[in-house]
Amino acid sequence: MSATLPMLSVTEAARHRRSIRVFEPGPIPQADLDAVLEATSLAPSAFNLQPWRFVVVSDPETKAKLAEAAYRQPQVTSAPSVIVLYTDMADTLATLDQLVRPGTTPEKAEKFTNMIRGIYGPQTEEQRETWAAGQGFIALGFLLLAAQAHGYATSPMGGFEPEKVKALLGLPANVRIPALIAIGRAAEEGTPHHRHPLSRIARTA
Ligand SMILES: Cc1cc2nc3c(=O)[nH]c(=O)nc-3n(C[C@H](O)[C@H](O)[C@H](O)COP(=O)(O)O)c2cc1C
Repeated sequence: MSATLPMLSVTEAARHRRSIRVFEPGPIPQADLDAVLEATSLAPSAFNLQPWRFVVVSDPETKAKLAEAAYRQPQVTSAPSVIVLYTDMADTLATLDQLVRPGTTPEKAEKFTNMIRGIYGPQTEEQRETWAAGQGFIALGFLLLAAQAHGYATSPMGGFEPEKVKALLGLPANVRIPALIAIGRAAEEGTPHHRHPLSRIARTA
């Protein structure tokens, strides 16, 4: 938990979260970044494959280059850190043994890994990485709420050139990048929520 602020409930975090694009200067304590990413890592994923990976960019020079890859969106350089959320099915499939729950019998473990290879092995790289990116957006939702709960504002961004981000950070060609997330203490209020009423988007059946 953030050292300075009480943690918000999920509902409070959802209500208070807004995209923030101007941040207070000063680094984020590593313990706070870890707390946010640990909560994020609890996100669910199909077959519990957890294909998400994170690079926390805090070095000003690297952030400046990241901003160039993100159409110079000002929040990239304003935020003390930018989290690059990417998904990597090649890494996931190469390390399936790490996903076997402790205590699983070798037979069941083999059944699991064979099943996963059977599903994703025949797919094209395009298909499986697209699938993994979808899982990555679940992590994005968790991250935005976890950050808010710990007293940090965020700005999720889809506006960037993935190939430039990959080159900058030395990421493999196969990976997808669901979002960049600027994170830090808010220095603006953001825009009040404007959302569909529930009656417009939900119904019973
Ligand atoms: C996946 C995703 C990508 C986004 N990309 C950008 C972006 O590149 N630049 C930006 O300024 N805002 C971006 N946004 C922020 C949205 O515009 C914002 O979430 C939306 O207008 C609702 O406002 P709020 O976040 O303040 O509630 C993105 C949001 C999401 C979830």
